[in-house]
Amino acid sequence: MAPLCDDQGMQIGIIGGTGPAGRGLALRAAAAGHSVRIGSRDEGRAQSTAVDLVERHPALELDLVGGTNEAACSADLVVIATPWDGAIATVRPFAGSLEGSVVVSMVNALTKEGREMLPLYPPRGSMAGQVQAALPGSKVAAAFHHLPAADMENLDSGLVADVLVCGDHDDARQLAIELTDSIEGLRGIDAGSLAQASPIEAFTAVCITMNIRHRAHSTLRIAGI
Ligand SMILES: NC(=O)c1ccc[n+]([C@@H]2O[C@H](COP(=O)([O-])OP(=O)(O)OC[C@H]3O[C@@H](n4cnc5c(N)ncnc54)[C@H](OP(=O)(O)O)[C@@H]3O)[C@@H](O)[C@H]2O)c1
Repeated sequence: MAPLCDDQGMQIGIIGGTGPAGRGLALRAAAAGHSVRIGSRDEGRAQSTAVDLVERHPALELDLVGGTNEAACSADLVVIATPWDGAIATVRPFAGSLEGSVVVSMVNALTKEGREMLPLYPPRGSMAGQVQAALPGSKVAAAFHHLPAADMENLDSGLVADVLVCGDHDDARQLAIELTDSIEGLRGIDAGSLAQASPIEAFTAVCITMNIRHRAHSTLRIAGI
């Protein structure tokens, strides 16, 4: 299939991009040559997050800015990186501006019990399914759930990981995989329809529980593909 993204790279917007997950993805995507806008409920916080990442990596000349969550919606690919319990209320007001857009949910619904993380199951089975229902005119994919944020933000971490990408729209899965493959150390794998987001998100609980038990930053690698 011909690439959807040209040599200029993509415009990436990250809703809730000031947290560890959004920061790490923003840095890695900008380091791969994409133009990244970190979004926030607080424009100033997004701007200072972007300035901080840029100033920490002066040699990379990152195209990375901060703004409102709304501003982050005007991108080729919009990532949702908020906590699960704020995700739907955050994106629903943007349903109009995200009409026709590729939206990638990296949201995991989890709860901690002692030294275990446990998955929560939203009514549609996954947070990505909830997002697709809240944004019926958007092309939703699910990706990036198992990536350790600290290793994403540390470009010297030696991170190597596979990223499972699923969704009901072929071009959304393809664009999310193109973004993933453009990032050093990551490989995107087409994992099927949006129905697969339920086990993919739930498996994050297993990954974090293993990390707690083994004091590790484990990553997912799929053999045989
Ligand atoms: N941390 C990881 O290693 C990792 C890895 C893969 C996936 N994820 C998933 O990615 C998502 C973000 O993870 P995170 O650790 O970065 O989370 P986080 O730090 O708790 O939240 C990320 C950002 O979301 C915004 N936010 C917080 N509460 C909100 C609410 N109620 N409504 C709207 N926005 C809110 C905040 O930005 P502003 O205050 O600036 O708006 C915050 O900086 C989660 O769903 C998580 O499961 C995390």
